[in-house]
Amino acid sequence: MKNQIEQLKLAKNAVILAHYYAPAEVQEIADFVGDSFYLAKIAKQSNADVIVFCGVCFMGESAKILNPTKKVLMPDLSADCPMAHMVTDGIIEEMRSKYDDLAVVCYINSTAELKCKSDVCVTSSNAVNIVRALPNKNIFFIPDRNLGSFVAEQVPEKNIILNDGCCPIHAKITAAQIREQRKLHPDALVLTHPECDASVLELSDYIGSTADIIAFAKASDEKEFIICTEDGVDFKLITDNPNKRFYYPNPHPCCADMKLNTLEAVLSVLEKEDKEITVDDKTREDAILPLDRMLELAK
Ligand code: 13P
Ligand code: SF4
Repeated sequence: MKNQIEQLKLAKNAVILAHYYAPAEVQEIADFVGDSFYLAKIAKQSNADVIVFCGVCFMGESAKILNPTKKVLMPDLSADCPMAHMVTDGIIEEMRSKYDDLAVVCYINSTAELKCKSDVCVTSSNAVNIVRALPNKNIFFIPDRNLGSFVAEQVPEKNIILNDGCCPIHAKITAAQIREQRKLHPDALVLTHPECDASVLELSDYIGSTADIIAFAKASDEKEFIICTEDGVDFKLITDNPNKRFYYPNPHPCCADMKLNTLEAVLSVLEKEDKEITVDDKTREDAILPLDRMLELAK
């Protein structure tokens, strides 16, 4: 299958992008593997004719919005992020009418329609710096309450209004699970994604996006780590650090949507080119503004 994928990629001038939560065998054949922010930048710069995005729908949509002349395919169009839908237009309008000096800051894990209603997008690797750089005092942070409250702690000079959405995978990680792992591995450092609950962040030695966690583990002189994020990162962690040990909360956090990106599905979509992401012109014109503003502010 890997050889067939390689041949089709060459024949079609296609490139494969995979998130760190995609299955290991898909990360292995991907041309680019990374976190949401890195993959959005790669998608925007890509010269390939076809982009196969092994992630969830909002990522494929963002790639299409940032680079609309390319054909963006997803191995499985039902790979969706539940959190991407966890805010309504009504709440956004209510907040806009309540505060004059308001910026709606939209975590990139959201639908294109929600991006259209927002002032700027962020990812977990740039949210703190972008919120800090905004001229507005009032920030409505959508949809993730956990990333929002982490940003609020880091940027106390802003009035950050939280929305009641969360990642069901990260929100399931509990402080009790971390204490249990700490007992089993007393020398391990706890590295945590900011989509986790505040009670888990409190017990952590380091908080960062998936790419930040991977970079921290590589640079650290420590040998053992408790990883509080989706277990797809294990592939990169053990590849980069064969002499270090990585432990996870029990049960392992696993995003079923990300795991729909199987090798079989990658091969099939490259053959048939049937699962294409489309975004209508009006949505694209509105949604590109907060995405471009993110890329600009993140510089
Ligand atoms: P990052 O890629 O920004 O770390 O986000 C994690 C995530 O849940 C992506 O769906
Ligand atoms: Fe969405 Fe959470 Fe899965 Fe990421 S891990 S795609 S935020 S459900």
